[in-house]
Order: sequence, then structure tokens, then C-alpha cells
Amino acid sequence: MKQDKALVEEGLKKISWAWNFMPVLRSFEAEHVDKQPLKNKRICTCLHLEAKTACLLLTLKNLGAEVSAAGSNPLSTQDDVCAALSAKGVRVYSKRGMSAREYVANLNKALDIEPHIVIDDGADLIALLHTERQEMLPNIRGAAEETTTGINRLKAMESSGVLALGVIAVNDAKSKFLFDNRYGTGQSVVDGILRTTNVLIAGKVVVVAGYGWCGRGVAMRMQALGAKVIVVEADPHKAFEAVMDGHAAMSMKEAALLGDLFLTLTGNRDVIRKEHFEIMKDGAILGNAGHFDVEINKKHLEELAVDKTVSRENILTYILKDGRKLHLLAEGRLVNLAAADGHPIEIMDLSFSTQLLCALHINDNSLSAGVIPVPEDIDRLVVKRKLETMGVTLEEMTEGQKDYLRSWRE
Ligand code: ADE
Repeated sequence: MKQDKALVEEGLKKISWAWNFMPVLRSFEAEHVDKQPLKNKRICTCLHLEAKTACLLLTLKNLGAEVSAAGSNPLSTQDDVCAALSAKGVRVYSKRGMSAREYVANLNKALDIEPHIVIDDGADLIALLHTERQEMLPNIRGAAEETTTGINRLKAMESSGVLALGVIAVNDAKSKFLFDNRYGTGQSVVDGILRTTNVLIAGKVVVVAGYGWCGRGVAMRMQALGAKVIVVEADPHKAFEAVMDGHAAMSMKEAALLGDLFLTLTGNRDVIRKEHFEIMKDGAILGNAGHFDVEINKKHLEELAVDKTVSRENILTYILKDGRKLHLLAEGRLVNLAAADGHPIEIMDLSFSTQLLCALHINDNSLSAGVIPVPEDIDRLVVKRKLETMGVTLEEMTEGQKDYLRSWRE
């Protein structure tokens, strides 16, 4: 796909800035580069095309692979990064603001590389491979999936007996979800909200829908900034955990009356809908950080609105019949990627190192079909390496302590 050459320099700058804070990925690249383990391998990816992702893609390329890349969300693609990647020899098929039709066309073009390995974020590539591009499945050694929503879809495919690939659940590795989902989302969502709105968080009532690892991270960071956090959860353990963490927990119907800022991170649809918009306070701000733009029902907002206006970049204000205004951020797409740069670099250093080692694992092993956990040694190695780069020494157990843990008699 033709990229804008004028953007190359800006993209390269962004990428080289990210590299400064990705010592783990750099160390794995240095360890493997001489052997060119991915030589003659084609890797098709569907990821958020920003600078840290570029570091992963260039690493795969430097280890010998031919790489194609589609963007995993129309608004998370950064065109300058794409231009730089293209200049470096990655086949890029994405443009910020692409339509739904262009999005699917780009997935197809990325797949035309006829991959041996697939790296997905949200499972759109893998779903396409199982519907319209099934002829490619026999040549694919395996895949890796980056995000919770993708894993949920893959598990649904597996339980309905259609998943024909071995897919490593990178999202479910401790080196991923404990850090990326929690601290990564925690910081990047705050970043996205602040960049778009410039409002004060202290004193606001922030409603966080979903108390998985992402929701926990966002609630924690909002609380630290002085917000009063309300958690909306359907799962009793998670709701109770939210209460133990010092938040209020209630239904969306109750929270809708109280919130100043609403954030959805559930992975489900219609989390905020007509009956909630109808009772919200004037001026409420609505943002989503779940993978798909289905959590805030935009159709309902459109139906209720008598007018709408762009209040600021990435803010569409809906004016309702009674004069109330509701402000939707980034079209209800991932606010941390559509209106900011995604997770902090050091966090993606971990996630993308796990992705890299999983790609090497797929290359070296034959996987059986199904959703497969990240091998324990990879999961531990990535975090150990991170600690090393931070100068953190782990405690070593004495032989006596190891014996004690192995024994059951006093
Ligand atoms: N940057 C690249 N991929 C990302 C992801 N899945 N979440 C947040 N930031 C990212």
C-alpha cells in the first residue's frame, strides 16, 4: 500500500524514541539476530500500528521474517509510523480513519502474504482465516493473540469446534495481563482522557464498567488522581473486590445518575445504552477502552440527539431534546489508542517480548489446534529479563527453604 513519504522521518523518530525504553525486546533481538531464526518465514500481523508495535515488527524482520501488517483499529493507526515501517520494508496495509470496508480489505491484503505465522490483536485475522480465507489454514504453523477480547472470541471458536489453528494466548500470560492490562491500561486511559478533554479528575465521579485487569488498573489510577470511583460489574467476586479496593459498586442504572466520566472496559456490548443516556447528568463524558466500539451504544445516542457538534478534536458532543449534552470521546473507540499513543513503552516492552518469543516458539514447534497457554519458561524469562534491565535482584531461597516447601511433616 502506498504510504506518504513525507511522514517517514517523523515516524522513524517516534520509533527510535520507543526503542530507548524497550531494553528487553532489544536484548532478545541481539540474542537471536545472528541465527536469523525467522529466515524464509512470512508473518502476518494485525496490531495497533504505533511506534512500539513498529519495534516488534522490525525485530521480526531483523530476525529474517517477511512481515505484513494491518491495523487492528481504524483510529489507532499512526500514518507516520506506517510510512516509516514501509520505508523499512514491512508491507503495511492501514490508514488512520479507514472505513469498515477498507479495514477488511486491508486484512485481506495483509493475508495475501500467505503467512506461516499470524499475530493478531482482537482475532479479526484469525476469524477471517476461518471464514473467507480457509485455503490458507493448512500452511499456517500457528498464531498468537494479544488481547482479552481476542481470547474470548477464540475460546468461542474452540468450543464450537471450528478453531483449526494452535493459537497462543499471549494475553493470558502473567508477563502480559498483570502489567499491560492493569498498569498499561491504567496509565494510557488516563493519558487519552487528559489529552482529549483537559479536565480535572480530582473530585469527579468516574464510573468504570468492568473490573477485569484493565478496569482494575483504570479505577486504581483514577482513584489516585482524586476521583470518586464507581465500579459497575456483573460478576459478584469482582464487584466485591472493587468494594474492598475502596470503590463503590452498583448497577449502571444507578451509576448513570451520578457519573461525570464514564469508562467502559468490559469486552461486552451495549454497556451504556438508551436507558442510561436518558438519565445522565448534563455534561457527562463517555469513553471506551474495550477492544471494539460496541460498549457505548452509539446508535442510541444518535437516536436521542437533536443535534451534535465537534467540541474538540476527538470529542463529539450530542445535544439531547432536553438540552443536556453528552460528550463522546474518540467515536467510542479505544480512547487510549485513538486519542493517545497506547500503553507506556516500558509496558509494551514486556508484552511484545512475550509476542516475539511466542513467534519463535511457533516457528520451532508444531502446535495442536486450540487456545494454548504461553509456555511457562517464556513467561518467566520475559519478566526476569525486565527485572535484570532494572537492576532488581531476586531473592534466592536456601536449600533449607526449598526442602521446607517440599516437605509436609513439621
Ligand atoms: N500499543 C500497541 N498495541 C497495544 C495494545 N494492544 N494496547 C495498548 N497499547 C498498544
